[in-house]
Amino acid sequence: MDESDFNQCIGEPTEPTNIVIFGAGGDLTKRKLIPALVKMLRCGLLHPESKIIGVLKGRAFETWLETLHQGMLDYAADIEMNDEQWASFSTMFKMVDGDLQDEQTYQSLASSLESLKGKTHAMFYCAVPPRWYTTIAAGLHKVGLSNEEDGFRRVVIEKPFGMDLASSRELNNELQGLLDESQIYRIDHYLGKESVQNLLVYRFANSILEPLWNRNFIDHIQISAAESIGIGYRANYYEKSGSLRDMIQSHLMQVMTLVAMEPPVEYTADAVRDEKIKVLRAVRHFAEEDIPAQTVAAQYGSGAIGDESLSAYVAEEGVSPESVTETFSAVRFYVDNWRWQGVPFILWTGKRLPRRVSEIVIRFRKLPFNLFDKHATAPITNSLVFRLHPDEGIFLRMNAKMPGLTTNTQRLVMRAPYSEDGTDVSDAYEVLLHDVLTGDATLFSRGDEVEESWSIIEPILNVWKDRLSVERYRAGTWDVSGMDELFKDCVGGWHKPS
Ligand code: BG6
Repeated sequence: MDESDFNQCIGEPTEPTNIVIFGAGGDLTKRKLIPALVKMLRCGLLHPESKIIGVLKGRAFETWLETLHQGMLDYAADIEMNDEQWASFSTMFKMVDGDLQDEQTYQSLASSLESLKGKTHAMFYCAVPPRWYTTIAAGLHKVGLSNEEDGFRRVVIEKPFGMDLASSRELNNELQGLLDESQIYRIDHYLGKESVQNLLVYRFANSILEPLWNRNFIDHIQISAAESIGIGYRANYYEKSGSLRDMIQSHLMQVMTLVAMEPPVEYTADAVRDEKIKVLRAVRHFAEEDIPAQTVAAQYGSGAIGDESLSAYVAEEGVSPESVTETFSAVRFYVDNWRWQGVPFILWTGKRLPRRVSEIVIRFRKLPFNLFDKHATAPITNSLVFRLHPDEGIFLRMNAKMPGLTTNTQRLVMRAPYSEDGTDVSDAYEVLLHDVLTGDATLFSRGDEVEESWSIIEPILNVWKDRLSVERYRAGTWDVSGMDELFKDCVGGWHKPS
């Protein structure tokens, strides 16, 4: 990399660090981690004396490098990088060939780190299935690599953090037995999205929102992640997970905590996370008999998006034809505290919907009296929409007079795109990797948060696990039965993203 590549970006500079990636031969490494590290290096947020050490088995170093290079070309074509620049970048790489279960692998890693003189910090990224997390933490512990005496040692893991309350507790106990909680970085890539972080700035850096941000003005809140993709080749995972675990327990509940939390006393990881967990503690736990009325589960059937015809979920590779796993789920939560009593938080997500849109819709209460009822061309409601993707930004739906001689009202959308000047909105992985390197855990889930969210979801899982059938919706449509009913008492009803 030459000097000109180091255009400075805004962000705390990082110190030379050994970035160890377990599972470095996998998809996540080539699709996300390496492109993010290249971008960070280019803008001066990754120290050029850092090293990237891949732990993988049975591959020659050159072959591994070639895979990473190909990954850059396939998945990060926007990052212009010629062969010479790649060759210069690849001098940062090292490889340890070994099995995760073999103690020798960790010994080799320890000696490899020792041989990188002067570099004492280490980040261990577990880009492997969760069943290996404890094995890796134990391996590091055994050879002394988790010891922070001469630099930080941070271990990064990705969801799922367990599949239910018991397994998440077990994972937490195991990891916390080997590492200090402050060394564990549980990535929720949703929280790395610029627009999600921006939510905190909108809330706490503007005086006009806070007075409205409560049950006196807000009718309900919708937090959604609609996707047009199906499950691809992930049947093995998805059949066990379903969309409730995959998206609601993790990403969407995390977003809900940021929407609902009280202002923290300071902008530090623990102060923010202390407020987030208070929200989770206030979320109502449903009794079994209430669950059908508070939730929707459905599965995509065959259908089409544009000209592409799509198979039903049960016809996807690896899915049982009798599967009742939900690919769409919605839950109407209540946060039982002073600020939010009685305000529904409806979280919903689904695959094979008409488009990919994720947003937070704050729907305000009805007008006490509507002067213009007979002149409205659209329902008189106000919403504030935080678009998480695509087209990140904030939209305010207002009502205004239609131009003309009569006093007809129309809906007007005031748009504030997040990046009006075309500034590159950072990828979640750049943000989160940078946070790990600088020790900022604000956007990472703490162990207690994870357990609390599982304890909320658990009663729903218990009821759903016994179901014998599931509603179907046609792929590429919004025809999910039960959704209108779920929104029946909400001003403006279900907001289908446009
Ligand atoms: C992942 C889920 O965590 O998030 C996937 O496992 C989902 O099923 C993905 O598609 C959505 O993330 P994004 O950033 O593409 O909205």
